[in-house]
Amino acid sequence: MKKRVTEQLGIRYPIIEGGMAHVGDGRLAAAVTNAGGLGQVAVSGFSPERFREQLQIASTLTSGPLSVNVPLGKFFDYERYFPIIEEMKDHISAISLSSGDPRPHIPFLKNLGLTVMVVVASVKHAIHAEEGGADMIVCEGVEAGGRNSPQELTLFSLLPAITANTSLPVIAAGGITNGKAMFGAFSLGAEGIQVGTRFIATKESPAHPFYKRALVEASDEDTTIIERSIGGVNRVLLNDFVKKIQTAEKRNASDIELFNYINGQRNRIAAIDGKMDDGWVHSGQGIHFITEIASVDQVIRKYMEDFHKAYEEVKQKMNTVSIL
Ligand SMILES: Cc1cc2nc3c(=O)[nH]c(=O)nc-3n(C[C@H](O)[C@H](O)[C@H](O)COP(=O)(O)O)c2cc1C
Repeated sequence: MKKRVTEQLGIRYPIIEGGMAHVGDGRLAAAVTNAGGLGQVAVSGFSPERFREQLQIASTLTSGPLSVNVPLGKFFDYERYFPIIEEMKDHISAISLSSGDPRPHIPFLKNLGLTVMVVVASVKHAIHAEEGGADMIVCEGVEAGGRNSPQELTLFSLLPAITANTSLPVIAAGGITNGKAMFGAFSLGAEGIQVGTRFIATKESPAHPFYKRALVEASDEDTTIIERSIGGVNRVLLNDFVKKIQTAEKRNASDIELFNYINGQRNRIAAIDGKMDDGWVHSGQGIHFITEIASVDQVIRKYMEDFHKAYEEVKQKMNTVSIL
């Protein structure tokens, strides 16, 4: 097994916590790092001051490596977070950039000594990221919880295409909630995985207990997409509030009405305050395998155990298949 991801990031297992708006706080990031993965503090959903606080919390709870995630969204003033990242650079070893063109920012971030991971959802963007000086590619399929690329490519199609077109280590993201899926991603060329949804249903996550329980109770049919009518792809858990949004989208509701439904506060009140009837929460497609609220350490151990089991199973199966 190539070890570029674990060696470059200084972690034991090739499992990275994806940046998660509102949910990706310091305590969860530290728990992931302490369990042998790479914890990541999100800027999304946190003011610059709260982001600094969360980084401080994370770095007091772990002495291991930490990362931060910055979405470079058109309508998001992400530059406000760069001075804090610079100020806290001794506590951070990596950064992931998503949602926009990372190239103008990579030299500055590498100068701070950070490993730069770029989240992409097409071969073209992976090539641009490599040309721009990225250290690692996070290949995110449309199975992922949260905001995805409008091309809506699945991980199964995207991952082998991206690994064939970059020399950088590739980390797979989207719907990977168990070690068997992790093994599948490695078979398609990944050298690590990025996980979001599975870490929400953990003891250490700041998500409201109603959100965690909803993930445990949901089936594979319970995620859906909102915001397609305005060119977005936001994968969320299906509930009555989400059905209301989809109805409004179908009847071409005004931008103002839609904004009232889809803004980040609607996400926060459901995800953190537990008002699930008044808002929406993100979820990836892998929820079938989220069957309990466990500790982050138990979750990561289970990924690794099942990853190795899957390898043994495939070896057996290969013996039953002839080549010609
Ligand atoms: C609650 C939640 C919030 C997210 N917020 C962000 C974000 O702020 N920035 C980002 O790059 N990705 C975000 N994502 C995507 C994750 O970083 C990750 O790539 C994705 O969750 C992987 O798919 P999975 O949820 O099926 O594991 C979010 C995902 C979830 C579930």
